[in-house]
Amino acid sequence: MRVLFVGDIVGSPGREMVIRYLPKLKAKYNPHVTIVNGENAAHGKGMTEKIYHQLLESGAQVITMGNHTWDKKDIFEFMDHAKQMIRPANFPEGTPGKGFIYVSVEGKELAVINLQGRTFLPSIDCPFRKAEEIIKEVKKRTPFIFVDFHAEATSEKQAMGWYLDGKVSAVVGTHTHVQTADERLLEKGTAYITDVGMTGPFDGILGVDREAVIKKFLTSLPVRFEIAEGRTQLNAVIIDINEQNGKASSIKRIMINDDNVFFE
Ligand SMILES: [Fe+2]
Repeated sequence: MRVLFVGDIVGSPGREMVIRYLPKLKAKYNPHVTIVNGENAAHGKGMTEKIYHQLLESGAQVITMGNHTWDKKDIFEFMDHAKQMIRPANFPEGTPGKGFIYVSVEGKELAVINLQGRTFLPSIDCPFRKAEEIIKEVKKRTPFIFVDFHAEATSEKQAMGWYLDGKVSAVVGTHTHVQTADERLLEKGTAYITDVGMTGPFDGILGVDREAVIKKFLTSLPVRFEIAEGRTQLNAVIIDINEQNGKASSIKRIMINDDNVFFE
């Protein structure tokens, strides 16, 4: 089973990259399931119903979220109908939406779980214990389990990777927007990468107009963050999962930008 995961889609530049490259990536790699992180898709923060449908039409089957899940207020209107969108599972009890989903793949099922870290992010329920709880339930149904761990600290992401090693097929990190070159198979068969990287502006700072960010660092004054213009990038991973036991057999990084041109 092959899974394509596209890292944090930032604003319209990110959505345009998805529209442009997702069909090409699918044609080249033939993934069974395509997952995208969409928590920055609506002008850098959150999700709208229109963009949710646009991402599905672009070829995503599952959309994962993160700390910006609630930033666009209309999410509360459509969250319950957005069957293919999940938000971090360790948000407190009673939070709208769901934290994991099953996707059908040729008679099998892939469970996709979204979790959020607590280091340098709002203090929510423990992602490790929540992961354990969900995996116990999901394992009764399928050995194919994919985790998007939306977190800030590399240590927390590595800890989650090792904690879930052998229990899930893959743990991929999102949120920090810079692709890390540490993709690997952990000892017990879990594919891991600290951060998949972002999809959107290439010359900004984490997708944001760099002049504003630099001004913020220089002056500490409040500044308005806008999505950067100009060149764009797409970052993703392809993970192969063994059909027999749910363990990963490979993880490959994908980086598309002007310095790393995509070959069809
Ligand atoms: Fe985030």
